[in-house]
Amino acid sequence: MNSQRIPRFTFSERVIHWAVGASFVFLLVTGLAFSHPRLYWLTYLVGGGSTARALHPLAGILFSVSLILMFFVWLKDMGLDSQDRKWLKAIMHYIKHDRDKVPEAGKYNAGQKVFFWSMALLGLLYLITGVIMWKPEGILGLGPFYGSIVNFMRLVHYLVTVVGGLLLIVHVYLGTAAYPGTLGGMLHGSVTQSWAALHHPRWRRDKRSP
Ligand code: HEM
Repeated sequence: MNSQRIPRFTFSERVIHWAVGASFVFLLVTGLAFSHPRLYWLTYLVGGGSTARALHPLAGILFSVSLILMFFVWLKDMGLDSQDRKWLKAIMHYIKHDRDKVPEAGKYNAGQKVFFWSMALLGLLYLITGVIMWKPEGILGLGPFYGSIVNFMRLVHYLVTVVGGLLLIVHVYLGTAAYPGTLGGMLHGSVTQSWAALHHPRWRRDKRSP
């Protein structure tokens, strides 16, 4: 019975997640290329400088649309409750793998929920700052945007990218190397009973109760 897998993500959740993931990585690579002349060679990975320039805002639209979908699809599971607040207080034990001292997680632990909310906020900032840089002449009846505003948007865009990039490194590490079996859930949709019992015991119990 223990070998039976538990469904974790539907097909559409996985498609949305990978649309977010692929577009974000594309945006990071092309954005990094524009950030310094020494990194401009990175644009050759996507067909050259002008192609990268044209595709970056379009990938931004794909990222924003898929992030909005992800937000509404996962919102119901992402509220922080009292158990999550205890989890956050015990985060050092989680980092040290001191499992007995960490409150049991539901479908997502509090760290994952905080990541979800952080990406939602950063996503909004990428969109606002990105669109103003893309269409300084004005869009949807707003604007035109003057040089000082565009420059400020550029600064905010870079700063949130650094934060988002660092969060992504932690997210990918936790979802792959740190906790084997996690990536499988996002690739083919299900996880093992033992993985669920170890990482999300409250969720596994709820799944088993009628
Ligand atoms: C590109 C490489 C990425 C990999 C390898 C990856 C991997 C994963 C995996 C394995 C999960 C499932 C975790 C679980 O079952 O508990 C997951 C969940 C999630 N992913 Fe990703 N992901 C990537 C990119 C992204 C990006 C760019 C975002 C958002 C901007 C994102 C947002 C999320 C969120 C909000 C969740 C649910 C909560 C969480 O597990 O943190 N992912 N990801």
